[in-house]
Amino acid sequence: MSTVSASSKPCVMITGASSGIGKALALHYAANNYQVIACGRNQDRLAELENKSANITTASFDVTDKQALYEHADNCQTTPDIIILNAGDCEYIDDARHFDGDLFERVIQINLIAIGHLIATWLPKLKPGSQLVLVGSSVTLLPLSRAEAYGASKAALAYLAQTLSIDLYDKSIDISLVSPGFVKTPLTDKNDFPMPFLLTPEQAAQRIAAGVSKRQFNIVFPKRLTWLLRLFNALPFSWWRKISQKLRQEPQHSKSTISN
Ligand SMILES: NC(=O)c1ccc[n+]([C@@H]2O[C@H](COP(=O)([O-])OP(=O)(O)OC[C@H]3O[C@@H](n4cnc5c(N)ncnc54)[C@H](OP(=O)(O)O)[C@@H]3O)[C@@H](O)[C@H]2O)c1
Repeated sequence: MSTVSASSKPCVMITGASSGIGKALALHYAANNYQVIACGRNQDRLAELENKSANITTASFDVTDKQALYEHADNCQTTPDIIILNAGDCEYIDDARHFDGDLFERVIQINLIAIGHLIATWLPKLKPGSQLVLVGSSVTLLPLSRAEAYGASKAALAYLAQTLSIDLYDKSIDISLVSPGFVKTPLTDKNDFPMPFLLTPEQAAQRIAAGVSKRQFNIVFPKRLTWLLRLFNALPFSWWRKISQKLRQEPQHSKSTISN
């Protein structure tokens, strides 16, 4: 992995850049002449990404390894203008009656606790005018079956983004919360249920980058899906619970229902 050196180009740091949405974001920003610090764990995939553009340097660390986060931040010679905290994972609670506490902990650790440490590491270093982008999910718009861990982590992340935005408003650090619908990535390739309005990672990256450039707080897409989720969420919860249970009983959904 190469060492990042000072550059006159604007700099964006992206976690979870070795695949899916993060990789597409890294390529998008590199093509737009940003210096990109692409972070992930898989060194082979990071090396492949680095070879695609002279604007990309990479860093390999596990976001749940607190010491590694601090070491990376201390060794970084460039302070990013934009940080996109995108690394995340999804695991489903298949049997709520035998709730898997370890699974719950793993998901919360990656999708929420690690974000807290990354924010603690980087916020004091950011210059006024910088941007911090948290990648959540449209799962927070509606309680979805089997998404106890993933949905809880992303709902907490949304609250974190909102409160940070309030508290950093007069410190000139802009916060964005990204809430994507379904995007075709290794994360969703595991899903065995229909994923309406599925986007490519490149489409997702374009929408995210457009929202970030306008310094939007809420970057939510695709609208067709999010309005549908909002519509169901406007129903009394007892109605939605009944509908969800019916969906679970369908043969093709017996092991899974919608979650993104
Ligand atoms: N795909 C969707 O439909 C969708 C919808 C809504 C929200 N999202 C969110 O978008 C983000 C990116 O997801 P994706 O779909 O692009 O998934 P993905 O292709 O599976 O990519 C996940 C990325 O996160 C990294 N990562 C995971 N655990 C990590 C850890 N412990 N330490 C360091 N890096 C770690 C992975 O790195 P390595 O592979 O190198 O380990 C990988 O680069 C996630 O936060 C996800 O929740 C996705």
